[in-house]
Amino acid sequence: MDKLLKAVKLTKNVYWVGAIDWGIRDFHGYNTVRGSTYNSFLITGEKNVLIDGVKKPFKDELLSRVSSVIDPKEVHIIVSNHAELDHSGSLPELIAELQPEKVYASAMGLKALKAHFHWDVDVLPLKSGNTITPCPGTTLSFIETKMLHWPDSMFTFHEESGVLFSQDAFGMHLATGERFIDEVPPEVILEESEKYFANILLPYAPRVANLLTSVGAMSLPISFIAPDHGPIWRKDLHVVLNWYKRWSEQRPVNKAIIVYDTMWNSTENMARTISESLIEEGILVKLLPLKGTHRTEIMREVLEVGLLLVGTPTLNNNLFPTLADALTYMKGLRPQHLIGGVFGSYGWSGEGAKQAQEYLEAFDVDVRETLRVKYRPSQEALEKCIAFGKEMAAQLKKHVAEFQ
Ligand code: FEO
Repeated sequence: MDKLLKAVKLTKNVYWVGAIDWGIRDFHGYNTVRGSTYNSFLITGEKNVLIDGVKKPFKDELLSRVSSVIDPKEVHIIVSNHAELDHSGSLPELIAELQPEKVYASAMGLKALKAHFHWDVDVLPLKSGNTITPCPGTTLSFIETKMLHWPDSMFTFHEESGVLFSQDAFGMHLATGERFIDEVPPEVILEESEKYFANILLPYAPRVANLLTSVGAMSLPISFIAPDHGPIWRKDLHVVLNWYKRWSEQRPVNKAIIVYDTMWNSTENMARTISESLIEEGILVKLLPLKGTHRTEIMREVLEVGLLLVGTPTLNNNLFPTLADALTYMKGLRPQHLIGGVFGSYGWSGEGAKQAQEYLEAFDVDVRETLRVKYRPSQEALEKCIAFGKEMAAQLKKHVAEFQ
């Protein structure tokens, strides 16, 4: 095994041995503009423990980094915190090559791994509260985190070092040469953390809130939060914990986003006029034209907002296809506590706005106003756009106040 690639030491006996995927730009529909990492960790001792694997094509990168610390054949135990293939994809080959004495996962993880690999590997099940001590100096305890974000998801806590291996939670898609959060510009960390929460964890926001409460109650002496993607938290852990608390609450704020597309600039003209009206009323506004705004970025903006406006032309008796994409994606991620409005220009039938409203209502957006304009907006129609914006601003302020 080559030793060209190096492990990075977190603390005594704990190393990062993961892989950096500089080139990935699509992670099941999530636009990973800064790439990603698949983090794997090695705990050394009389028994060496590997926490999580990497995506299948990166197996040799993991083994190379492990080789810089120990002979990979001396990995005695593998713990799989999460069965999604970006972490488990390399496990069949790793297990075949390394022949570990034991492989652990949550009870649901056993099922998920078997369903993926149709294997006969004897994986040992773990539950919340279980502790194993493979050797002196290595005590591992486990916390099931079901639906954060898969049924099998689990945290592993290394008691001696205080490292919480948190799989997808507290992570981000960010390829860097730096392994620690405090080595990366803070605005990048915030942006990528927001994006990750909004695009991966948002449907389970109430569970995040419950998890933060229950883990807080355990008073674990956590010194590091080591997620499976992106850099590792070793300082100021309260920063990410506070972000997660705030994002999981999804409180509406005095901010509006206008997601729209346009055929001949009529719906765009409406969007811009409505935005001016909202700005005049003191609302923070972001226009998100779908020609050039990826659904991933839209979700980041949805994370902290109060008013969602959607503008669509009608094309062949339907809403515009880009809106169907963005709203389908948003429906799956289920943002909460939003009020909404729908607008758009049409030629003769005008189903687009109605269909957009149905999409929004499917994930409980309270749609308050609809405005349709035939063909190109006249002066009178633009005045209606201004009135629409003023009305939406008033409703947003009331909605936010009701949440205080
Ligand atoms: Fe990073 Fe849910 O896998």
